Amino acid sequence: MRVTATVNGVERQAEDVWPGESLLYVLRERLGLPGSKNACEQGECGSCTVYLDGVPVCACLVAAGQADGRDILTVEGLAGVGGLHPLQQAFVEAGAVQCGFCTPGLLIAAHDLLDRDPDPADADIREALAGNLCRCTGYEKILDAVRLAAHRLRA
Ligand code: FES
Ligand code: FES
Repeated sequence: MRVTATVNGVERQAEDVWPGESLLYVLRERLGLPGSKNACEQGECGSCTVYLDGVPVCACLVAAGQADGRDILTVEGLAGVGGLHPLQQAFVEAGAVQCGFCTPGLLIAAHDLLDRDPDPADADIREALAGNLCRCTGYEKILDAVRLAAHRLRA
């Protein structure tokens, strides 16, 4: 089947897609967008999180056919022409990136949080990121990064 979707603001097509293929596979292997990571492929780790019609989803659990005609934003689409998104910059500055495997999903999840709540309490940040597992950072630096980005985005 052919899958047509708007990805990071651009209409993209993937040909010869097997109906059982995941959106994550299509993004990474067919559309050349390796930012979303495949860490568990079971909906457990959040490293594959992308926006689908404005809602964060685990791309490993979305069948490619379900993405047809939809709007997708991946981590590659967060940065603007001026450079990194403030959230990405804050992750770098706060030391919230080590191996980086979890980072794309955390960025999308944190972006969604700050969209809904520009001034989240720590408990809200923890809850929003609860579905995103990181094996490297111990989470504190990730929390620091989200606090820093929230502060800058409010300013
Ligand atoms: S790779 Fe999708 S949730 Fe882990
Ligand atoms: S930085 Fe390595 S898993 Fe999070």
